[in-house]
Amino acid sequence: MAATSEALLQVLCSTGPSISHTRLCPNKSKFLVSTNQGLRFRSEKVKFSRHKSYNMISAFHYGPNVSDRLRSLTCKCRKIDSVSDVISEKNDPLLKGDIATNGNGTFSSSLNIGGVNSIEEEAWELLRASMVYYCGNPVGTIAANDPSDSSILNYDQVFIRDFIPSGIAFLLKGEYDIVRNFILHTLQLQSWEKTMDCHSPGQGLMPASFKVRTVPLDGDDSATEDILDPDFGEAAIGRVAPVDSGLWWIILLRAYGKCTGDLSVQERVDVQTGIKMILKLCLADGFDMFPTLLVTDGSCMIDRRMGIHGHPLEIQALFYSALLSAREMLIREDASADLITALNNRLVALSFHVREYYWIDMRKLNEIYRYKTEEYSYDAVNKFNIYPDQIPPWLVEWMPNKGGYMIGNLQPAHMDFRFFSLGNLWSIVSSLATNDQSHAILDLYEAKWRDLVGDMPLKICYPALEGQEWRIITGSDPKNTPWSYHNGGSWPTLLWQLTVASIKMNRPEIAENAVKVAERRISKDKWAEYYDTKRGRFIGKQARLFQTWSIAGYVVAKQLLDNPDAAKVLVNVEDTELVNAFSCMISANPRRKRSRKGINQTFII
Ligand code: GLC
Repeated sequence: MAATSEALLQVLCSTGPSISHTRLCPNKSKFLVSTNQGLRFRSEKVKFSRHKSYNMISAFHYGPNVSDRLRSLTCKCRKIDSVSDVISEKNDPLLKGDIATNGNGTFSSSLNIGGVNSIEEEAWELLRASMVYYCGNPVGTIAANDPSDSSILNYDQVFIRDFIPSGIAFLLKGEYDIVRNFILHTLQLQSWEKTMDCHSPGQGLMPASFKVRTVPLDGDDSATEDILDPDFGEAAIGRVAPVDSGLWWIILLRAYGKCTGDLSVQERVDVQTGIKMILKLCLADGFDMFPTLLVTDGSCMIDRRMGIHGHPLEIQALFYSALLSAREMLIREDASADLITALNNRLVALSFHVREYYWIDMRKLNEIYRYKTEEYSYDAVNKFNIYPDQIPPWLVEWMPNKGGYMIGNLQPAHMDFRFFSLGNLWSIVSSLATNDQSHAILDLYEAKWRDLVGDMPLKICYPALEGQEWRIITGSDPKNTPWSYHNGGSWPTLLWQLTVASIKMNRPEIAENAVKVAERRISKDKWAEYYDTKRGRFIGKQARLFQTWSIAGYVVAKQLLDNPDAAKVLVNVEDTELVNAFSCMISANPRRKRSRKGINQTFII
């Protein structure tokens, strides 16, 4: 990389003088070091002049002591009320309406909802109004833009997972800047070490969310500065780790390249490093016996205690998709050969494991029902020692003759039989599910339409935990009461994932029908975050209104149904090498015939 024209900004680690991390930044860079709430962690601000930040390039050199303690990125700005000038300089479409600041770096255009012609137009207006700016450039969308909400919590932040449908909507509309900025700015946040109670886990984690804070510039009353302030879970309710963020980031990066045809972003040194850091974190050895990712409860869209610790399907599907996407984008060079080998091996093992052990349909359920237990041997059929009594009574009735799905989680002696929408839909999109399994999942949606779509698409999971199970598994969580929020609530944002999946399987009518159901209420109900009750009849007890990913999810569903070909930017097609390796594993499967040799086999593609 041509570094000579860039000033070298060196981020000193707080534990000593060794330089662990260097970035190439524009001129006039300097440091500020301040104390963060009396903790031993130093809060370091990187400053540089406005506009320059937009073009900032980073290069990482990982020394032996990678312990930089950055807290926030800042850039100097003029007063907030002059930012419209900045936007006008960039000819932003927002200027077509009046711009008002709603604080926190977000600007809302004054909406004239009554005047818009269609739900789609309204959605676009709202989506634009949710845009968040950093130093005058759009970098994301706020989670919810509900003016009537008095307890905003962290809904005034840009969530990585929430931005994905927004990003896709902008990409499909040909508005690329916001996505590019989002990708590059969140990348800068990635390298900042997350710390909680003096503990610093591995690098590579992407934040759950970030906030743009506009604060007065020290010693200068006439100026403000924007600060990018990330939350890696250390401030989040329940201190949940955002495992999905990095996986979504990779998926969006690939979609950006495919949509724009501009591969220069994914080829940048810092972006390649970012991909590798995420992969290294995910592929690191641990105590785990399974190829699936082991995570704590609440590490994805369901970011509260819901009994999904272990190996939840949603994370596995995103992991698989991110591995395939990364493989496409990683530049082949000697230095990354080992990583790519590890990635390939994991892909094979992961797809085998999930397809074989997470899948249930009538046939498999009947097999489990007749399982023998306590099998000590390499050839065990009931490998995970599942007691047939675990099959819940609701499932015996609920499983249709035609259709099936991936269970929510698999652990020793434990199958979580709940149906989780996002994990199943993304298994289709990523080709983690086989072609037959993918069709069967869509068959299930059709067979169980009332339960999974009901009055408002889409159930986040089915069924709800009730009674003693709810008390034990959620810890009597009053927000996750039965058929509310994460516990069997209905989330309009999931429409876009349903649309990608049904287009991929050439069954777009499923998504079309779900969109029609949503259109009956979604705008009248002010784009609620989620719905409660078995059929999704009520707006959720604590649901935010004008929830951005409800808006963006709808927009993306409509865009894709209009132009199904565009779904390709998100879909991972199954590659033949993987299929071959997979069939080798199938033939080594104990349910057919298992030899000791088969267990130790590794696959190098
Ligand atoms: C809730 C959701 C989470 C989402 C966040 C912001 O916490 O569970 O998935 O990212 O709100 O909308």
